[in-house]
Amino acid sequence: MIRINQLRKEFAVKDGVFTALPSIDLNVEKGEFFVLLGPSGSGKSTLLRCVAGIDTPQGGEIYLADRLIYSGAKNVFVRPEDRGLGMVFQSYAVWPHMTVYQNVALPLTHGAKRVPKDKVRDRVMYALSLVQMDRYADRPVPHLSGGQQQRVALARSLAVEPVVLLMDEPLSNLDARLREEVRHQILTVTKMVGVTVLYVTHDQSEALALGDKIAVMDAGRIIQLGTPTQLFSMPATPMVAEFLGQVNWLKGQVASAGVIDTPVGRVLADTRDLTGGVQLGIRPSSIELMPVATGAANEFPGEIIEEIFLGEQIQLRIRMAEDVVFEVRAQKPFRGRHHAKNVFCQMEAAEMLVYAAH
Ligand SMILES: Nc1ncnc2c1ncn2[C@@H]1O[C@H](COP(=O)(O)OP(=O)(O)OP(=O)(O)O)[C@@H](O)[C@H]1O
Ligand SMILES: [Mg+2]
Repeated sequence: MIRINQLRKEFAVKDGVFTALPSIDLNVEKGEFFVLLGPSGSGKSTLLRCVAGIDTPQGGEIYLADRLIYSGAKNVFVRPEDRGLGMVFQSYAVWPHMTVYQNVALPLTHGAKRVPKDKVRDRVMYALSLVQMDRYADRPVPHLSGGQQQRVALARSLAVEPVVLLMDEPLSNLDARLREEVRHQILTVTKMVGVTVLYVTHDQSEALALGDKIAVMDAGRIIQLGTPTQLFSMPATPMVAEFLGQVNWLKGQVASAGVIDTPVGRVLADTRDLTGGVQLGIRPSSIELMPVATGAANEFPGEIIEEIFLGEQIQLRIRMAEDVVFEVRAQKPFRGRHHAKNVFCQMEAAEMLVYAAH
């Protein structure tokens, strides 16, 4: 549905040219919810803006539903309003002097996506019902909460029945509770209408929850592309691993295939073809706490130095060796329950992340 070949985007800056995207290749299938995830400045918005036609690239090609909308070599540039896109951004971008209904109707009565007059009301009310805002149709937009305004923006972008929906951090202006609610709504509604989505975020939990596929970007490049579970369980680099969630790192030395010596002890993990120095990553969720030693593989003693109550979870800091402190999550307080600071950490060999030492 979206095909991007060797896309290049440069910006003119004071002392020359800054290459924000050296060469992006990307394929988004029809109906897919595709997330661009990466740190600030990695080029996510720039890529989205090139697809939208708000930014003009310096080379490469973009196809939307097999239609060439940009080509550097062939000198093709389809105007943003003629690309058949819907867009939702961080700022709600709803018109404050209009009602909810008028906001959603606007692109249907004006501009390139105009529809016959007798169709407008049905389209607007259907779009509003998708985001459960139909009963607010006559309300002036300023009299809505942030989450409701963002749902109006979503309804407006869906009312034009876009081939592709582009979203750039649509949840970042919302508080934590609303963010989850609107996130759920975005997922439900886009799946219901079957629209293809290209979604930008720097929030890994948002990416994991929403994405059918995720492309992790860094410095204008796609570092890894895969499903949420692929990325979480097999991150290609330590940067991707850290970006998708907390990781405890251990320096180690491969003793033999599948065996790594670390300051904590001898660890069994898939070393693939690595030899010599390695970096071993263990996620908090891959560590299980035991009050007594069980003799299981990859079980090491530690001492609890801090226990923080987070409500649904307990976060523990555990000293594993002189200079090694692990962050671990538990469902219940440990220290008080077992009347002890000493604990045994069992690490799941299959979930260990192993990289060459840098
Ligand atoms: N108009 C511009 N002129 C010069 N440089 C720009 C311009 N727009 C973006 N850049 C640079 O391009 C790079 C990518 O910016 P972009 O906005 O795509 O990042 P992002 O991944 O969306 O980050 P964030 O998560 O902070 O929104 C950054 O280094 C940014 O400074
Ligand atoms: Mg951005």
